Amino acid sequence: MNILIVYYSMYGHIHQMARAVFEGVREVRGAEVEMKRVPETLPEDVLRKMGAMGAQQTMSHIPICTVDELASADAIIFGTPTRYGNMCGQMRQFLDGAGQLWVKDALVGKVASVFTSSGTQHGGQESTILSFHTTLLHLGFIIVGLPYSFNGQKRMDEITGGSPYGASTIAGGQGERMPSQNELAAARFQGKHVAAIASRLYR
Ligand SMILES: Cc1cc2nc3c(=O)[nH]c(=O)nc-3n(C[C@H](O)[C@H](O)[C@H](O)COP(=O)(O)O)c2cc1C
Repeated sequence: MNILIVYYSMYGHIHQMARAVFEGVREVRGAEVEMKRVPETLPEDVLRKMGAMGAQQTMSHIPICTVDELASADAIIFGTPTRYGNMCGQMRQFLDGAGQLWVKDALVGKVASVFTSSGTQHGGQESTILSFHTTLLHLGFIIVGLPYSFNGQKRMDEITGGSPYGASTIAGGQGERMPSQNELAAARFQGKHVAAIASRLYR
């Protein structure tokens, strides 16, 4: 059973969450898992002006995904930072390139799940994941979220991301906050949960 984690990260927050998702998937016996980034659409000088070059270098060893690879996965866990309450343009561009898979029903019946990151606490985490789900439903995916059996999403003693829709982290206005232990635990839980469900379907 192959599980693909497909993500975009500009400053490394989604990258860290993706690594935690990866760890969670690996807890399920029989799950093969790979992390892949979607192609960058911004020119390097723009990334430099946005202060993203350092983070980009730390992620440079993660291979770039092609849309054809989606077809050979049994489950796909997508990670995207929010952009105005929606998925980022890089992810949008990548999924818009999946039309050939769409017309062939190549993704129908696969499991998908989404995790995200935002600058501010109420900056659009839920809308990003829920609007992402629309695209996934058009492609025929079975959507899996982050159930309340992940108790960490009920915490009131600290600021935390995470909702029934999926794991999330709050990066801060300047990207100064990295994912907390609770948010990483949510990402691990989501990875394991998706892999367990995909495993049952696979069998
Ligand atoms: C063009 C743009 C739009 C953004 N829109 C929002 C937004 O609507 N709400 C918010 O909280 N953060 C917003 N952010 C902040 C990003 O979501 C934040 O930088 C990101 O979650 C960090 O994750 P990353 O390091 O993996 O890229 C925006 C950032 C950019 C560059």
